[in-house]
Amino acid sequence: FGPRLHEPENPMRSPLERPRPMSRFFEHAPIFSPMNPFPCIKNRLFCEGVSLASLAERFGTPLYVYSHSALAEGFRQYDAAFSQEEHLICYSMKANSNRAVLKTFIGLGGGIDVVTGGELKRALDAGCPARRIVFSGVGKTAGEIETALTAGILQFNVESEQELFTIEGSAASLGRWAPIALRVNPDVDPKTHHYIATGLKKSKFGIEHERAVALYRRAAESPHLDITGIHCHIGSQLTSVKPFVEAVKKTVGVVKELEALGIRLKNIDIGGGLGITYRNEKPPTPSQYARAVRKVLKGVRKRLILEPGRFLVGNAGILVTRVISTKKGTLKNFVVTDAASNDLMRPSLYGAFHDIRPVVATKGKKVKVDVVGPICETGDFLAQDRLLPSLTEGELVAIMSAGAYGFSMSSTYNSRPRAAEVMVKGDEAFLIRERETLEDLVRGEKVPEFLT
Ligand code: LLP
Repeated sequence: FGPRLHEPENPMRSPLERPRPMSRFFEHAPIFSPMNPFPCIKNRLFCEGVSLASLAERFGTPLYVYSHSALAEGFRQYDAAFSQEEHLICYSMKANSNRAVLKTFIGLGGGIDVVTGGELKRALDAGCPARRIVFSGVGKTAGEIETALTAGILQFNVESEQELFTIEGSAASLGRWAPIALRVNPDVDPKTHHYIATGLKKSKFGIEHERAVALYRRAAESPHLDITGIHCHIGSQLTSVKPFVEAVKKTVGVVKELEALGIRLKNIDIGGGLGITYRNEKPPTPSQYARAVRKVLKGVRKRLILEPGRFLVGNAGILVTRVISTKKGTLKNFVVTDAASNDLMRPSLYGAFHDIRPVVATKGKKVKVDVVGPICETGDFLAQDRLLPSLTEGELVAIMSAGAYGFSMSSTYNSRPRAAEVMVKGDEAFLIRERETLEDLVRGEKVPEFLT
């Protein structure tokens, strides 16, 4: 692949312990490809070479299952698409922050896009060199800024004037230079769900064009700020290249204006946002995306920073759940599963579609059902009015495309312990996060003496 911002390193040297195989499944090896990591062989669903039924048996449900080869393949595709540019892929870890996932990308030469001190700690613990970490996020605290400065990160993606001054103050008191890029809000409609559109004038993110230029001029005079780049991210689950092109064009406009003022940047960070197929969407491929962006960047010789999240993990993960019961209502039929909206919020929060497949396929008439969880809210559903083969108590189903913003957005609402996570590589399965216990749920709670 093309030149990078960094030297590749040996991922084995990272401080995080390598996960140990928890099980080995000797099943007839199904044919899977990283493009189809969950094949259906003889009516049974697999993750790579391991049947989902055996995983559910061994680790229980609800269970997040990730395919290692699909994760790696996604990264390689993205990396290859930008091979003509000097670039660094900073995986946006909010999509899935399990350290085994992080290590997969770090081992392939990736960096990380973090947005909190918690994410920064996870990234460093997973062995990510600080020089491959960019720090985005609209509310960085002084403490988080200091930790990131001390660690020596690649770049702060700055969200406001006030934040810039806080960073400057921290750098001054630590006697350091802070590497900064301003996040420019290009006011472009990404044509996605309004909750995840971030580059519109009305959204809380970034700094508008003119203000950004003025702030760059101010930063250029600071003895503690090192202007390293410019940043822009307009939203998530984009299914066309047009908004990307528009946003990058506007960003390049700012770069040119700055250059005319004698302010030269090293990096252009164009964020993440490339969509995936959940149902029938046809998002651009990474190479179509790269080609479109390349045209706009022609003549602008900068290092590219990319922050994909969903594209790298979304279709590499699923949520396996067991049917607790079925119920005929007056107007609807319900399938109640042991996974709920606390495990996967996307359907409830965004009305998102996730395909649902029985783990063991059966023939027979399909029925229209709502797939719901046990949580005491009408908004607790995983699918509504979905035609599915008739399901009965005890059956397993897989909720597809759940690798991004699945576990990472899960909660313990209704005192439901969070699900376990497993990574499959070939015919081996590795437990990468234990299922939470009931004890975990109350850890840290204190009952005041007057109540005892
Ligand atoms: N960079 C920045 C600054 C971001 O805010 C995000 C996502 C990304 C990169 C990665 O975007 P991606 O490549 O994953 O689209 N919970 C929502 C998605 C929220 C996205 C937040 N920011 C969902 O489940 O659809």
